[in-house]
Amino acid sequence: MSGPLEGRRVVLGVTGGIAAYKAIDVCRRLVDAGAHVVPIMTEAAQHFVGTTTLGALASEPVQTELWRNPTTPIPHTVVGQGADLILVAPATAKLLSAYRTGFSHDLLTNTLLATRAPVVVCPAMHTEMWEHPSVVDNVAVLRERGVHVVDPESGRLAGGDVGAGRLADPSVIVAEVERVLGPGDLDGTTVVVTAGGTREPIDAVRVIANRSSGKQGYAVAAEAAARGAHVVLVSTVELAAPVGVEVVAVETAEEMRDAVTQRRATSDVVVMAAAVADFRPVAAAGGKIKKDDGVPEIVLEATPDILRGLGEDKPDGQVLVGFAAETDDLRANALAKLTRKNLDLIVANDVGAPHVGFSHDTNAVTLLRPDADPVEIDLASKREIARAVINTIVEIRAASRTGEL
Ligand code: CTP
Repeated sequence: MSGPLEGRRVVLGVTGGIAAYKAIDVCRRLVDAGAHVVPIMTEAAQHFVGTTTLGALASEPVQTELWRNPTTPIPHTVVGQGADLILVAPATAKLLSAYRTGFSHDLLTNTLLATRAPVVVCPAMHTEMWEHPSVVDNVAVLRERGVHVVDPESGRLAGGDVGAGRLADPSVIVAEVERVLGPGDLDGTTVVVTAGGTREPIDAVRVIANRSSGKQGYAVAAEAAARGAHVVLVSTVELAAPVGVEVVAVETAEEMRDAVTQRRATSDVVVMAAAVADFRPVAAAGGKIKKDDGVPEIVLEATPDILRGLGEDKPDGQVLVGFAAETDDLRANALAKLTRKNLDLIVANDVGAPHVGFSHDTNAVTLLRPDADPVEIDLASKREIARAVINTIVEIRAASRTGEL
């Protein structure tokens, strides 16, 4: 189950800004994701970080020059022609200007002109420079030409200034590279994902909760966004929002139901990865229940079954996905839920098995569909599980379009 960067040739161009040190982290993440990273540094970049550091982490030695290249007499075209993607991080105002006008004065600018691969640039500079009309204009022209621009963040800049212009976080940069190199098979779709365990209030300070960490739902949301979907993540937990994902914070089953049902009509896919409480106190005490008042009797009632409600009134072509966390009779229980809730797919996990389910970073699941053989996914990272889930969703959508279902 390889990701979109596996075996892809990514040229990483580093230009001369203080954020050049973050390019090291970007490089490491790209290599970890399976990319072959070809590093190029401009002369100015070498004032900020050394070629030894970047070269040690990249897939080959750093190239810096148009001349005296030991591997090829024509580096100005060879590097760009062989690339699957060119990433420039950080990109200075000078680089943006040169790229816009075609001023090819060094190896990186030549490479940018010679390539036909997609290009991602990540500007970083002081706020005054970022907001200067010439930079604004250069960025707009590059965008128009199809260059992917990862906007800088606001934050502390070199010299202690604060403002827009700080290089985007390495995780954001790598997510954009993954999206650009990914299959784009959810382009133009809207995907709603729920994540985390709901919390049902007992009184002003106490809740009925469960062990769900939300990690699997977040991984599904991140993967769907990487595949091109507009993703709304309805979440009860406060993990870092995946790149490009809209997060809607909720707490109770009822709030989750409202957030999901509001969006159901316009969603192509709904993935209920959340662990929704089945029961809640009939009435939560307004204040804190005091110990001296004796042991309270808490009367429970059923919460709405969100997924069942969605399945009862499913728009044509919508793919509805449930999760089933089981401790016994995994397949039988999950299949019963698949039918009862009118789902297209259920992701069943045996939460009693080691390293599986709640709070772990890994999972192992069985994917069950109404008219297809079960598929076992062995222990893997939650992102890899998410990839398998999204692959199956894409398959279901393709099959329903060609009438195979
Ligand atoms: N679910 C839901 N609303 C609920 C309970 C569950 O939408 N009130 C969804 C979950 O998000 C999950 C699926 O239904 O995708 C299955 O949840 P699970 O708790 O395994 O099943 P239940 O139907 O609650 O059955 P049981 O607790 O008896 O196993």
